[in-house]
Amino acid sequence: MLNDQHKDLVRSSFESDQMRLEAFIPEFYSRLFSINPEIRTIFPTDTARLESKMLASLTHVAEALVDTERLDAILGQLGEKHHSMQISDDNFSDFIQSFTGALASTLGPEWNKETHEAWTEFLLYIANRMRFSPPQDVDQTTL
Ligand code: HEM
Repeated sequence: MLNDQHKDLVRSSFESDQMRLEAFIPEFYSRLFSINPEIRTIFPTDTARLESKMLASLTHVAEALVDTERLDAILGQLGEKHHSMQISDDNFSDFIQSFTGALASTLGPEWNKETHEAWTEFLLYIANRMRFSPPQDVDQTTL
């Protein structure tokens, strides 16, 4: 269950000086494609488009900190798009695990059990709004 403390922790990761996208983005994709090499084929091949996909995702993730009806509609549509790309609940787990793993290595000492839990809950909440149900025991491996 997502609470205000989770949201505060997620917000402070976003605002951290350590949060360098030029480190986070390649780290995220390298984790995702090594956990699941098959998923590589549905992603664009060029780095610029991969980066812009992640920037678009991060924008939606940041917007989800302010819960609005508009956001619900946007995530609903985004979810449909992802379902039509045959993305599965297990793929979503891999995504969350890669995302939190890349955050852990980017944020270094600012990453701990609490931030890990907050981000996992937050990404599960977004998955839910996109009508995915990744397994709840997702992401036990990065701490
Ligand atoms: C936090 C969850 C996620 C968010 C907010 C998100 C956001 C987005 C956005 C905004 C786009 C661009 C849509 C468009 O062009 O209209 C996109 C595309 C895409 N997403 Fe996601 N996504 C998420 C999770 C995932 C997951 C779990 C996968 C698969 C493991 C995935 C794979 C893709 C792919 C393959 C594309 C198409 C990229 C392209 O061809 O340019 N996404 N996503």
